[in-house]
Amino acid sequence: MDIRPLVLVLLVCGLAWASNTDLDYGGIPFWINRLLGEPSVVSLRDRMDPSWYRAVNTESCPLQCDCPIQWPTALYCDHKGLNQLPESLPSRTQYLFLQRNKISGIPSGALVNVTRLRWLFLDWNQIHSKDINSMWLSNHTQLVNLFMNHNNLTEVPTGLPSGLRQLRLAYNHIEKISPGAFQNLGNLTLLLLQGNRLKAIGKGDFEGLSSLNLLDLSHNFLDTFPKYLPPSVQQLYLSNNSMTGVSEDSLQDFSSLRYLRLGYNQLQDNGLASGAFNITSLVELDLSHNLLTQTPVVPTTLQYLYLEANLIQAFNVSSFCRTFGPTEYSRMRILRLDGNKLAYHQLPPDWVFCLRVLHHIYV
Ligand SMILES: *[C@@H]1O[C@H](CO)[C@@H](O)[C@H](O)[C@H]1NC(C)=O
Ligand SMILES: *[C@@H]1O[C@H](CO)[C@@H](O)[C@H](O)[C@H]1NC(C)=O
Ligand SMILES: *[C@@H]1O[C@H](CO)[C@@H](O)[C@H](O)[C@H]1NC(C)=O
Ligand SMILES: *[C@@H]1O[C@H](CO)[C@@H](O)[C@H](O)[C@H]1NC(C)=O
Ligand SMILES: *[C@@H]1O[C@H](CO)[C@@H](O)[C@H](O)[C@H]1NC(C)=O
Ligand SMILES: *[C@@H]1O[C@H](CO)[C@@H](O)[C@H](O)[C@H]1NC(C)=O
Ligand SMILES: *[C@@H]1O[C@H](CO)[C@@H](O)[C@H](O)[C@H]1NC(C)=O
Repeated sequence: MDIRPLVLVLLVCGLAWASNTDLDYGGIPFWINRLLGEPSVVSLRDRMDPSWYRAVNTESCPLQCDCPIQWPTALYCDHKGLNQLPESLPSRTQYLFLQRNKISGIPSGALVNVTRLRWLFLDWNQIHSKDINSMWLSNHTQLVNLFMNHNNLTEVPTGLPSGLRQLRLAYNHIEKISPGAFQNLGNLTLLLLQGNRLKAIGKGDFEGLSSLNLLDLSHNFLDTFPKYLPPSVQQLYLSNNSMTGVSEDSLQDFSSLRYLRLGYNQLQDNGLASGAFNITSLVELDLSHNLLTQTPVVPTTLQYLYLEANLIQAFNVSSFCRTFGPTEYSRMRILRLDGNKLAYHQLPPDWVFCLRVLHHIYV
């Protein structure tokens, strides 16, 4: 049988199917580099009768999985109702998809034959911290992406390999970060921990994360702005916690913070120090859905400010510009003030001299 036309159909359909998979990657998009041979779909569900893959591919393939011929290093075992990892995973496997099963633990040695793994997808399982062996990934030096969103972890797994770039642990039950958990992860750029149960961040918790770019700690139980975050972070998400303030020094250690999300907290005027947001690298600041009654002081370099759904009654131009002049004006492009106690006619007449390059204002 000539299979080439069928392979072509599968590839063309892959683009369409990839977009409606029910995997959300923990909310942050996931980029695929085809030049590295990375497969362009993370699931083969609803595509073709699994017996078809078996008929056209003579390579070994665990019974519970599908092995498409065009991605010989990918193994699709997602959405199969598995209670445990399939046995005899082929050693060629670099991309392993196990999401949406009922796996509750990873016994020691389960991954011993797949040391070439680059991606491991375990989203939407029921994995418990106590049922992972601490050495489970110790020989997996090529692993770059580990996805364990929506599991039952209570701690960040330890013994993670040092080449890791993305670690997605959103929507677990994580209460604490084990000492040294991130110690060797100097190449990690993305860390998702939103939807967990973290109450505070300890001094050494994030030690070792020298390249971290995006850190999501939204939807935890933080009641004060956490200290000891990695200074390299450019995107910091802290929405949906219960913080009441941001102090003068909360942001001072960050060297290149650009996007800060603090929506859905309990921020109050007297909790925000006057210099709290005084960092010129900041591009976007989200303070929506808080308890502010005044506009907070922000740097003139800020471009996007979200203040909707607060209790703001007064618009104070000095929040945006300390002085006016040919070069002294706010770079603000979008300002949201809707859902406050403020009407357009209440804006003071001089606001246009300050907010000179504004594209949109919502009042
Ligand atoms: C690993 O490979 C060896 C040799 O092929 C085999 O005996 C063993 O059962 C495999 N282990 C697992 C967990 O697949
Ligand atoms: C890692 O590999 C070494 C050498 O191949 C082996 O001795 C060791 O048992 C492996 N460790 C684990 C946890 O599989
Ligand atoms: C995992 O947690 C979910 C709730 O997040 C719960 O419904 C489920 O029973 C837990 N599974 C196990 C095996 O504990
Ligand atoms: C970290 O990334 C650099 C640059 O891509 C690479 O050379 C290095 O091998 C990586 N470190 C590990 C432990 O994989
Ligand atoms: C925060 O909470 C609101 C209201 O409960 C919800 O609509 C929103 O999706 C949550 N956002 C995050 C990032 O968790
Ligand atoms: C902001 O920081 C600069 C130095 O980085 C300082 O000169 C300035 O006074 C600060 N402004 C406020 C409002 O704290
Ligand atoms: C506006 O804010 C400045 C300092 O940020 C303050 O001194 C001034 O009193 C405020 N003006 C009004 C009308 O609230």
